[in-house]
Amino acid sequence: MKVEFVAAAGSAEIVAVLVHGDRSLTAAGGTYDQAASGALTKAMQKSRFTGSADATLTIAAPAGVEADSVLLVGAGDPAKFDDLALESAAAAAFHAVRLSGAEVLTLDFGHLSPEQSARAAFAVRLAAYRFDKYRTTLKAEKIASVTSVRVVTSDIRASQAAFEPLSAVADAVIFARDLVAEPANVLYPEEFARRVKALEPLGLKVEILGEAEMEKLGMRTLLGVGQGSRRESQLAVIQWNGGKAGEQPLAFVGKGVTFDTGGISIKPADGMEDMKWDMGGAAAVAGLMHALAGRKAKVNAVGVLGLVENMPDGNAQRPGDVVVSMSGQSVEVINTDAEGRLVLADALWYTQDRFKPKFMIDLATLTGAAIVALGLDYAALYANDEAVAGPIFAAADKVGENFWRMPLPPQYEKHIDSPIADVKNTGNGRAGGSITAALFLQRFTNGTPWAHLDIAPTAWVNKSTRNTIPDGAVGFGVRTLDRMVADSYEG
Ligand code: BES
Ligand code: MN
Ligand code: ZN
Repeated sequence: MKVEFVAAAGSAEIVAVLVHGDRSLTAAGGTYDQAASGALTKAMQKSRFTGSADATLTIAAPAGVEADSVLLVGAGDPAKFDDLALESAAAAAFHAVRLSGAEVLTLDFGHLSPEQSARAAFAVRLAAYRFDKYRTTLKAEKIASVTSVRVVTSDIRASQAAFEPLSAVADAVIFARDLVAEPANVLYPEEFARRVKALEPLGLKVEILGEAEMEKLGMRTLLGVGQGSRRESQLAVIQWNGGKAGEQPLAFVGKGVTFDTGGISIKPADGMEDMKWDMGGAAAVAGLMHALAGRKAKVNAVGVLGLVENMPDGNAQRPGDVVVSMSGQSVEVINTDAEGRLVLADALWYTQDRFKPKFMIDLATLTGAAIVALGLDYAALYANDEAVAGPIFAAADKVGENFWRMPLPPQYEKHIDSPIADVKNTGNGRAGGSITAALFLQRFTNGTPWAHLDIAPTAWVNKSTRNTIPDGAVGFGVRTLDRMVADSYEG
């Protein structure tokens, strides 16, 4: 999607204007209405369009207006028209005309600040995302005609300047979505690692550890998960040093199970294809690092991705196996399908051991139990430190990603105690399954300030209700973490 900021709509193909609830045109819209001798007002009166949030009405070829057509976009209650509502309206405008035949959509939303103009363009970029690379028979009329968005602004240079960092975040979200959407025959651990390595030109330092190197480090819980796979397990270590030399980094750790069959504790066939996106946590961390580098964030950060494929095989790990993690703790593997925590145990330990970070935040599509607990609109947030949790919630609120705080109750620790090892990888049947998974991870944080985001509910969406998030891969977490870093750790 091409983005431009312009001083006036001129002879646009489609110009979109905002209408607040109860059919009240914004000032910019009023200008077009006057030019068209009241045609916009009349069109609203003759229709059910009232300007409720995200509703749209196209007025084709209104006489007296330079543009080919005017698109009315509902902005709802002006008191509730915040930055997220603006994003939603801009994205709704795009969806209304996506297949119209026009190539350029011009947004004339009236008195927007440069930041708001940038935010509108950003929203259209996110809304326009599609994963169509494998569709060879897509009919021409199903392919978006709109390939460019123009935003009318009174300050072109300031809008462009405000858009630059947001454009970097959009690139990063799109990068993450592509990883999540990619099927597992294409995106296996080494391919994931290659795509991350290819980010180095942005200024990132990327190291890839293979199985031999992880073996030397004693990362047996991670390697155990991958040992049934024909694909080699990988650990990707991504560094961005945009802050002061020697300043403690922020650390982000991602679960990157490129496919989760469950292993010997094999999953049922129904819905197993969803497990191609069991690397959504790693994708979010890779996306975050992409964003930080892309907008040259003034911060030191490290991203660590545990990349494995969980397969059943003659060499696969068995239920009942005991493995020793890099931390030295022994783990009894009760269920080979509780593999994400085994991967993260070593990835978390490695991260704190090597980088001594200010904090660690891990992201993982960790448990079906998080979906049972919260439904599909909230990710679970666990933290051992309010100074880590607070900025995540604050940032999430600004970018429209939902998290719900969950507890780390010490009295549940006994459920992951093992009779023969230090810890086991499942809890008390299905009770509190997301919580016992988090408690397991906590044992590998070595007291580092830490938050765990179980994004199983939100990494993928089948019927999206958000205009900026198309069906499929969400790229969930990239925006929140980028915003958290920007608001709480830069400058
Ligand atoms: N990757 C799954 C969790 C998951 C389920 C993510 C649905 C996204 C959608 C995870 O590895 C898993 O299988 N967890 C098990 C744990 C259980 C065996 C203790 C679960 O949630 O059932
Ligand atoms: Mn699993
Ligand atoms: Zn999994």
